[in-house]
Amino acid sequence: MKANEHWEKIHQEKTADQVSWYQSEPTVSLAMIAKTGCDVDQPVIDIGGGISNLVDHLLAASYTNLAVLDWAASALAQTRQRLADKETLVRWIVGDVLTVELGGPYRIWHDRAVFHFLTEKEQQQRYLSRMADVVPAGGHAILSTFALDGPEKCSGLPVVRYSSDSLSELLGETWERQEACLYDHHTPWQSVQRFQASRFQKKA
Ligand SMILES: C[S@@+](CC[C@H](N)C(=O)[O-])C[C@H]1O[C@@H](n2cnc3c(N)ncnc32)[C@H](O)[C@@H]1O
Repeated sequence: MKANEHWEKIHQEKTADQVSWYQSEPTVSLAMIAKTGCDVDQPVIDIGGGISNLVDHLLAASYTNLAVLDWAASALAQTRQRLADKETLVRWIVGDVLTVELGGPYRIWHDRAVFHFLTEKEQQQRYLSRMADVVPAGGHAILSTFALDGPEKCSGLPVVRYSSDSLSELLGETWERQEACLYDHHTPWQSVQRFQASRFQKKA
C-alpha cells in the first residue's frame, strides 16, 4: 500500500476522536502562531492539516489568507464539510508536500506531526528545501514532532523523533530558533505522547 493510501484509509474509516493525534484545541500551535506577531492577513499554510481544527480556530481569529495541504483528499473533504460556508475562504491543496505545487509565499509554515514521518535524509532535505523556497526571509516555520521520548510510531508508521536542538541543527543556519517547548499530547483514549514544538524564523 502506498503511504497516501494508508492515510486515505485512516480518514475514511475513523472519526476524529478515533485517531491518536486528535486535539480538541491545538493550543500550542495557536500560541506559537500568535507569537509570530504576524498580521491576520499574512499567508499561512498548514502542512498535513488533515482533519485538524487549527484552520477553524484561525478563521475564528479572523485570519484571511489560509492554505491547508494534505495528500489525503478524504481528510480535506471532511474538514471542508465541517467548515461549511467558510470553506471557500481557504485554499485547499491535495498532494504530497514533497512534490505538489505549494503556491506561496507563506509568512507562516505550520506542521504538526507530518515532518516526523520523513525517515530518509533525502526526504527531509527535500521537505526543508521546499519550505525554504516558499517562506521568505522574516517568515516563520513551526514544526511539531514526537519528542525524543515520544512514541516510535505514529498511525502504525515509523517516525523520526526530535529534540528542538536536533531539529534546529537539521534546519541549519538559515533558520533562527525563536522558541521551543515540550508538551504532552493526550490521545482521545488518554494515553500520553510527548511532542516537541519549535518555532524558527528565516534569516535575511
Ligand atoms: C498524524 S496526522 C496529523 C494531522 C494534523 N497536522 C494534526 O495535527 O491533527 C498526519 C497528516 O499528514 C498527512 N500527510 C502525511 N504525510 C504527508 C505528505 N507527505 N504530504 C502531504 N500530507 C501528508 C496525512 O494524510 C495526515 O492527514
